[in-house]
Amino acid sequence: MMDDLRARCAVPGAVDFAAGINGMSKVSLTHASGSSAEVHLHGAHVTAWRNAAGEDLFFVSRQSWFEADRPIRGGIPVIFPQFGAGPLPQHGFARIREWELAGTERRDTGVVAVRFQLAEDQATLAIWPQRFRLALDVALDRASLALTYRVANTDPQPFDFQAMLHTYFAVGDIRRTALYGLEGVTYIDSLRERAREVEPRAVIRFDQETDRVYAQAPDALRIEDEDRGRTLRIEKRNMPDVTVWNPWIAKAQRMPDFGDDEWEGMLCVETGIARPPHALAPGEEWVGETTFTIQRG
Ligand code: BG6
Repeated sequence: MMDDLRARCAVPGAVDFAAGINGMSKVSLTHASGSSAEVHLHGAHVTAWRNAAGEDLFFVSRQSWFEADRPIRGGIPVIFPQFGAGPLPQHGFARIREWELAGTERRDTGVVAVRFQLAEDQATLAIWPQRFRLALDVALDRASLALTYRVANTDPQPFDFQAMLHTYFAVGDIRRTALYGLEGVTYIDSLRERAREVEPRAVIRFDQETDRVYAQAPDALRIEDEDRGRTLRIEKRNMPDVTVWNPWIAKAQRMPDFGDDEWEGMLCVETGIARPPHALAPGEEWVGETTFTIQRG
């Protein structure tokens, strides 16, 4: 499979293919500046983004599963069509399906891009009886990674969906990490019986488990990693909701695919459609975009 992908889709010096842990297929993207990224076909899951100095900007757990039917812990799980718990597997099925590689390119600007696709099959129809087509474009520039996420309804019936990019950022120390941009936004606190509150803070800092969905959040957010002296900008379009999550100590211990001490070095800031779900008529397509840019560090 790797040889076939390489023969059809490699871009010399920019896009290559390799077998990862447990032989899982992954695509590597390399920008001329030295920045790089890696995406597994399992889940179209971005499992690495590195700056030109080779430093990891995303967190991946050392205890992650790399197995069919199980999600990878870290990077960017692609959530669809259900966010969180519900009738389908937690966070839906897109993150545990094998996606297809639909194209690779190095653009004139130097941006290196790959496209992945997923459509219904017997297994998805058995649990969610809708025909659909997902596409995820991952575009690597010198100091940024841009994701374009498309959901198309190819079914004769309308459907509702939730779709998130569940991004795990690597931080030096969560206690010395600050999140900007959510002041005044109403959030649902999953840890307080889904209480609705308005975020009073311009600067969010972390000293306990956090699990919140901010609805209709502004399109520009910022993470300051004071430990590493790094600033990351998050810009989104047509992705109204933002989830902020860190499991802290006790939940980290309960999670089998997450190291007991790893809560210190990560922060999830997720972008997409959480609540309410989005309704899509037959033939319609939804497109959401999120771009991460290293501003400093
Ligand atoms: C977050 C949820 O989006 O994902 C959390 O708000 C959940 O409650 C976390 O724990 C991780 O979910 P999972 O299924 O990857 O363990």
